[in-house]
Amino acid sequence: MSVSGKKILIAVSGGIAAYKIHFLIRDFVKKGAEVQVIMTPDAENFVTKLSLSTLSRKPVYSDFYSDNGTWNSHVEMALWADVMIVAPCTANTLSKMVHGMCDNLVIATYMSAKCPVFIAPAMDLDMYAHPSTKNNLELAESFGHSIIPAESGELASGLIGQGRMAEPATIFNAVEHYFNSDIQSRSLEGKTVLITAGPTYEAIDPVRFIGNHSSGKMGFSLAEEASKRGAKVILISGPSVQTLNNPDVELHKVTSAKEMLAKVFEFYDTIDIGIASAAVADYAPKEVAQEKIKKNDENLTIELVKNPDILKTMGERKTHQFLVGFALETQNEEENAKGKLEKKNLDMIVLNSLRDEGAGFKNDTNKIKIFTKTEKKEFNLKSKDDVAKDILNFVETQLLK
Ligand code: C5P
Repeated sequence: MSVSGKKILIAVSGGIAAYKIHFLIRDFVKKGAEVQVIMTPDAENFVTKLSLSTLSRKPVYSDFYSDNGTWNSHVEMALWADVMIVAPCTANTLSKMVHGMCDNLVIATYMSAKCPVFIAPAMDLDMYAHPSTKNNLELAESFGHSIIPAESGELASGLIGQGRMAEPATIFNAVEHYFNSDIQSRSLEGKTVLITAGPTYEAIDPVRFIGNHSSGKMGFSLAEEASKRGAKVILISGPSVQTLNNPDVELHKVTSAKEMLAKVFEFYDTIDIGIASAAVADYAPKEVAQEKIKKNDENLTIELVKNPDILKTMGERKTHQFLVGFALETQNEEENAKGKLEKKNLDMIVLNSLRDEGAGFKNDTNKIKIFTKTEKKEFNLKSKDDVAKDILNFVETQLLK
């Protein structure tokens, strides 16, 4: 992936380094990105709208209203952007950003933006070293913004020290790296997510078991995606051939439902989010034969007893955890899914119907509907990796409520 096709919002504030922004805009446009430039009123003293709009191929705005009386919607621009870059970011603009001093188009747009924000500060060395700037940069970082530190060198004042805006190539690389690494947001940073995955195998004798066709793929995709978003991930998987590409995920392999239950409750008190994607066997043989059962009789009867319902037990013991269940149904899908949401005391349930082609168990794709007590959302057929993103996006919006 590169920046091609990405929507880049560049906010220019009033510092001498504004002249370097032309090179940054040119680099993004050359690589196929769409660039929208906005500027603070003071930035117009350093660079012209004409040169910036010629390079970006879009009108450049510095006020809420244009001369022809049209409104320049800060909300629209903010929501349009895949990333916002504030460069150069003066001490004044930085301070307004972190304290919500919303007195111009740049700050209003910044405060409406939901995308990642990159900040390239530029100021004289003493201003850069000042405790207030340091505090403001720390605050910006605590909001999850990426700071591209100022570089050392000769400054406009003639002094030499740190304060020069990072070179356009450095800013470009930071943004390109972000798109490449696909770490689009560390939105689950600080959260612990427990995921159950795969089938369970219930032993009949030393060589046979009762199992099912679950591949474990959905749970593994969820684990990788949650980890990418910064969560601590505990993945408890029944027998599955899936492999993990992410060393940060803590994988615990189990075989039977009882083992899965015990493992889940080793961690249950410490987790924030529990996602039960395992296809747990509902029944297990009452007795496990110590020796291989011989094929002597015409008929063989194995008495089965109900397995513990892991997710239901999680629901019963819920204190603060956000619980997500799965329902794989063949009839009365929505009714059954909603019934499980209630019965198991869940916050959210993901329904996949075996009637939908490409959905469910063994496929690499899935088609889901999500229900909470009050909401319903339907999704198209997608790869399980993309379905994992949809599920976690939905969880995150619920956590914000
Ligand atoms: O009741 P049903 O098996 O359809 O519920 C499915 C949901 O409950 C899934 O999220 C599954 O992981 C979980 N479950 C469980 N333990 C069981 C049975 C199901 O955790 N014994």
